[in-house]
Amino acid sequence: YKTNPVFPKGFFWGASSSAWQVEGATLEGGRTSAIIDLNSQTKKPYADNSIAADHYHHYKEDVQLMKECGFTSYRFSISWSRLIPKSDRKVNKEGATFYDNLINALVDAGITPIITLYHYDMPCWVEEKYGGWSSREIIEEFDYYCRTCFKLYGDKVKYWLSINEQNMQIVYGDWLGVSKGCKNWEKDKWDINHIMNLCHAKAVIACHEMVVDGKIGPVPGYVPIYPYSCNPLDQIAAMNAEELTQKIWNDTYVFGKYNTFIKNYWQAHEITPDIREEDLKLMERARIDFIAVNCYRSDVAKDPDPSYVQLIGLNKSGIKGDFTYPNIPGEYALTRNPFVEVTDWDWHIDGVCMRYSLRYLWDHYHLPMIITEAGYGAHEELNEYGTVNDVERIHYLRDYIYNVGLAIQDGVDVFGFNPWSFTDLLSTGNGMAKRYGLVFVNTTDNEVRDLKRYKKQSYYWYSRLIRSNGTDW
Ligand code: BG6
Repeated sequence: YKTNPVFPKGFFWGASSSAWQVEGATLEGGRTSAIIDLNSQTKKPYADNSIAADHYHHYKEDVQLMKECGFTSYRFSISWSRLIPKSDRKVNKEGATFYDNLINALVDAGITPIITLYHYDMPCWVEEKYGGWSSREIIEEFDYYCRTCFKLYGDKVKYWLSINEQNMQIVYGDWLGVSKGCKNWEKDKWDINHIMNLCHAKAVIACHEMVVDGKIGPVPGYVPIYPYSCNPLDQIAAMNAEELTQKIWNDTYVFGKYNTFIKNYWQAHEITPDIREEDLKLMERARIDFIAVNCYRSDVAKDPDPSYVQLIGLNKSGIKGDFTYPNIPGEYALTRNPFVEVTDWDWHIDGVCMRYSLRYLWDHYHLPMIITEAGYGAHEELNEYGTVNDVERIHYLRDYIYNVGLAIQDGVDVFGFNPWSFTDLLSTGNGMAKRYGLVFVNTTDNEVRDLKRYKKQSYYWYSRLIRSNGTDW
């Protein structure tokens, strides 16, 4: 390409967050606990989210900073247990007002709100009453919650996201606490996944019923998988990894039914999820409007069973890089990509994976897409000038955004970029130690400081980029 990519007029430039990672005030304003709060207080390496970035008390200032930066969109989530704190289905007025105020502040600042209905924060009361995702009874409860959100905010909010990274919640169920209470996770996870699919489907249907001009989509955690080498078996391993970590979810969202890969997989592993005739009809009816893509990195897969390779006479010597990545016998093994750098947390830094992902998803599904997460997590501290010179984040974002632009030139329909995150907030597993923000929040995991906001260098860079609609790099 000889010219810089051109971003469409009205492209949504913004950033992303989630309630439990940014709000704090976990027991204020009528909110009750979520399972993730308990994890964060009792289980390392989670960090205490009772304060987080204290967005609950700083939202006005945060929205002003977004406006100053030139944002045209902001993606955040509603905390179910803030809106409906108990099993009596009563809406908590203070909670409802908090989100109303936030939405109004955004709209007044010319920023389009994009709301995630569920971002990892299962209310304790739902867990206690129904066993969380493992009981079908959650379906009606989740539907009631979603309908409450649409009723309260549907006049002002037109972009909705259903469940954040359902695929990651199943693939990394232990890490994210979804497997809690399950006796046989390898089997039970498919029932939980099915229940999540039904919740997603009902949210899609309710949004279309209740929100005039409302659009809704799922939020897959998308990690494209490259084959390690041109060994054909590495290619198959990459395809297996793609299916088992993301494609089976994306196919279900888009086509409203389970694909043959997963049906065969269940059969081969003697797994029989409780899938009923009426469930399939419901899934079929839930037609999504777009896909919200979270994409931070790529992964690399290789054939997991070298013995089989030797059997057919191939020589695998010279292949190195056996890091502690998952190895699923008979399916795939993940490994380090020697062609790209990694973050402090070993995540591949790979701008091209953004273009690859968008191309891949477009080729398969032909639906508009918005980037709802991508970001650079790092150890950071304020310098003597009251800023953070986060050049690595600027390089990361520049590369990823440039590749979004190239995907658009390739013909993909992309309507926004909302990286993780606006202010520093808690990482899922690493608290404030792993900072993602364009704005530094003055606090640490070990010491609660004054929580003041300081613009990092990436804030200024991103602001220039936004104001030029993606031409001033
Ligand atoms: C995404 C999640 O998977 O990754 C976010 O939607 C999360 O909630 C983000 O924070 C980054 O992951 P981590 O573990 O570095 O916080």
